[in-house]
Amino acid sequence: MKIAIGGKGGVGKTTVCAVWSHLFAEDGFNVMAIDADPNATLASAFGIPPQDSPRPLIEMKELISERTGTTKDSLGVYFKMNPRVSDLPEQFWLDLGRIKLLVLGAITQAGAGCACAEGVFLKALLMHTILQRQEVVLVDLAAGVECMGRASVAGIDAMVVVVEPGSRSIETANSVAKMARELGIKTVGVIGNKITENSQIDVIKSGFTGQDAAVWLGALPYSKALQQADLRRVSVIDADKINVEELAKAKNKLMKLIPPNRD
Ligand SMILES: Nc1ncnc2c1ncn2[C@@H]1O[C@H](COP(=O)(O)OP(=O)(O)OP(=O)(O)O)[C@@H](O)[C@H]1O
Ligand SMILES: [Mg+2]
Repeated sequence: MKIAIGGKGGVGKTTVCAVWSHLFAEDGFNVMAIDADPNATLASAFGIPPQDSPRPLIEMKELISERTGTTKDSLGVYFKMNPRVSDLPEQFWLDLGRIKLLVLGAITQAGAGCACAEGVFLKALLMHTILQRQEVVLVDLAAGVECMGRASVAGIDAMVVVVEPGSRSIETANSVAKMARELGIKTVGVIGNKITENSQIDVIKSGFTGQDAAVWLGALPYSKALQQADLRRVSVIDADKINVEELAKAKNKLMKLIPPNRD
């Protein structure tokens, strides 16, 4: 089962990714949690101190040069379009037991996503993990749509968009959902986050009426404890019981929607 988590900046993508990683692991699955955000923070949501957080693979210029067949100085001139990457997850992930954390990072310069050695390398790694690996794969995407890198989520089973009460957040989530559908991703789930009043749930839901394939997975209340967890860099799984329970329900709902014949 391969799930990507998207949405506007700051809505709670990383929080959902970290909590679901724990919940899938509790269910007995091996999980690969992939941080594909240029501003990598998934390690922090697992409560891992900065000094133990993996360095994003995108920063490993020598490795990328070696695998894409470029020299350090000519990165981006000529390179292999299909670099060998299948041995890399085991070498570079942080082993958290049933959960393996792989920090990829992402290309930050606008438009450079496809046409450079780093872009090809990252795409190859994501494609490999999505299409070849047996683990449950959860991808914490960069905020918004433009950085999403269309090819990098091809083959994913479900795109989950996280939405907070706000029209800009709904708008971004709609764009992500639309792009997911254009990419042939059959299942799009919606999670409302940071809810302070029930009426906000209806507003968010009504923002997805044109998206017939978008399935409502649940709503998470605004939680001071989660905010505190971020402030103190402690694991999100222990921070707020109610949110974890709601995310467990959302996960189970999503699992029922994904065809079981993938893994
Ligand atoms: N339900 C919630 N209640 C209160 N705070 C929350 C909730 N969910 C997430 N947060 C807080 O909101 C902030 C952003 O959350 P998170 O990092 O998960 O979002 P994100 O979408 O991954 O952000 P970015 O776009 O920067 O990667 C964090 O401080 C987090 O603790
Ligand atoms: Mg994030």
